[in-house]
Amino acid sequence: MSDASAGKALAASTLAGKRVLVSAGPTFEDIDPVRFVGNRSSGKMGFAVAAAARALGAEVVLVAGPVHLDTPDGVTRIDVRSAAQMHTAVLGALPADAYVAAAAVADFTPRRVSEHKIKKTAGSDTLVLELVRTPDILAEVAAHARRPALVVGFAAETHEVERYARGKLANKRLDLIAANLVGGAQGGFERDDNALVVYWEGGERQLGPAAKTEVAAQLVQLIAERLQA
Ligand code: PMT
Repeated sequence: MSDASAGKALAASTLAGKRVLVSAGPTFEDIDPVRFVGNRSSGKMGFAVAAAARALGAEVVLVAGPVHLDTPDGVTRIDVRSAAQMHTAVLGALPADAYVAAAAVADFTPRRVSEHKIKKTAGSDTLVLELVRTPDILAEVAAHARRPALVVGFAAETHEVERYARGKLANKRLDLIAANLVGGAQGGFERDDNALVVYWEGGERQLGPAAKTEVAAQLVQLIAERLQA
């Protein structure tokens, strides 16, 4: 079921007194002192969400992976590098009224970080890296004793967007999930524009395509509606 309540303008004090925690950007998982496994997230989507929540009067804490973006005015920023550091920073920033997980957290990290730069070995054309799962920060927040009233995940999918997004909504016990199509020439990573479909149990809302700042404002409007409901 689509809903029709999008588009109502909200006052700049709508989220006054609310604490909104946002994660943004990639995580970098170190292999050795000079190499890492990363991804294409620029942080633009999450930073735009943080700015939009601040514009509606919220106290905003932004946990940022390694990105090259200025901190939105009035937002408290905590910089991290790895999934493990993001995990510690996000859980340490609770309690919050809402958590918005826009970060592209690495699902796997090298089992061990080499102390020295890994050298090529004569006679071997391959290098095998053993990767282990990282903690699922979003699922942990959703199951936490200090669970925010609203837990909002993102889903970056290359195909079957609704099926995978709704799976994450249910499996991670989220209130909302904002899905975007990524890969190839699609939106999502790096670009200044994006399109989201936000799913919840029994409903959905299309946001954009538009500039990430506009899409973020619409997402924060939906969050404000849910927090007031
Ligand atoms: O940063 P930009 O360049 O602006 O790009 C924006 C974006 C594409 C990164 C953003 O819109 C987006 O989709 N973010 C989520 C990317 C992602 O990692 O999705 P996922 O489907 O793999 O993860 C699902 C959810 O679980 C996400 O909310 C993620 O933050 C969270 N997660 C994933 C793994 C993990 N170990 N811990 C998590 O919390």
